[in-house]
Amino acid sequence: MQVKTIGIIGAGKLGVVLAQLALKAGYQVYISGSGAVSKIKLIVETLAPEATPATTQEVVAKSDVIILAIPLRNFRQLPKEVLVNKLVIDATNYWWEVDGPREDILKKGQSSSEAVQEFLQEAKVVKAFNHMGYHDLHDEPRASGAEGRKAIAIAGDGEKEVATVVALVDSFGFDPLPIGSLQEGWRLEAGQPAFGANVSKEELGELVFKANKSV
Ligand SMILES: NC(=O)c1ccc[n+]([C@@H]2O[C@H](COP(=O)([O-])OP(=O)(O)OC[C@H]3O[C@@H](n4cnc5c(N)ncnc54)[C@H](OP(=O)(O)O)[C@@H]3O)[C@@H](O)[C@H]2O)c1
Repeated sequence: MQVKTIGIIGAGKLGVVLAQLALKAGYQVYISGSGAVSKIKLIVETLAPEATPATTQEVVAKSDVIILAIPLRNFRQLPKEVLVNKLVIDATNYWWEVDGPREDILKKGQSSSEAVQEFLQEAKVVKAFNHMGYHDLHDEPRASGAEGRKAIAIAGDGEKEVATVVALVDSFGFDPLPIGSLQEGWRLEAGQPAFGANVSKEELGELVFKANKSV
């Protein structure tokens, strides 16, 4: 898939840094927050001035790929009817301080990206950009092949969709590490060794392998 336009839903710490990376990589970027466009205008103008602040509906309509950068507890607010057939990169995490009790928003044994996929039904959800802190995402991009390049893990089902996210992660300045199906996304969740990882592809692979579901 030829990606030209990236839409980011969520104009907070992560969303703004991802907008900066996308702009630097040459994509056109649309970004939305939870309320009126005027609420995010100043932050976008200041921190990612080439991005276009928009409503979530506009972001989805205008973008080839959508990145979710909202608190997980709000995923059921997403306009799933306009996300049909869209490639959605889920960068959200369950984080109890923000989201409250896990059982209030997720089924027992279900990973957060599986819940997002279940809700969005006909969108194609791929998990990526969730395990690295926004400051590391900001500080660590490097050209392909550069010494010390860090890696971002990707979990998703469709071969084509994963390939698109692999290319996108690479263009943002990180080595892509596909780890398997969306179901495997639990390996990247908070509490697992890979969560917070800002390491090379080889080291990240080891951390993903060490994941333990009983944690
Ligand atoms: N911070 C990190 O380092 C980091 C790294 C990787 C992944 N993540 C994950 O990314 C997500 C966002 O984290 P964050 O730190 O960026 O949070 P944040 O700074 O609180 O930003 C969240 C943003 O999402 C917006 N939002 C909330 N509900 C929305 C909705 N229904 N539609 C559109 N926008 C909505 C908020 O708008 P309002 O302010 O108007 O509510 C705000 O702009 C979380 O799931 C987090 O776990 C964070």
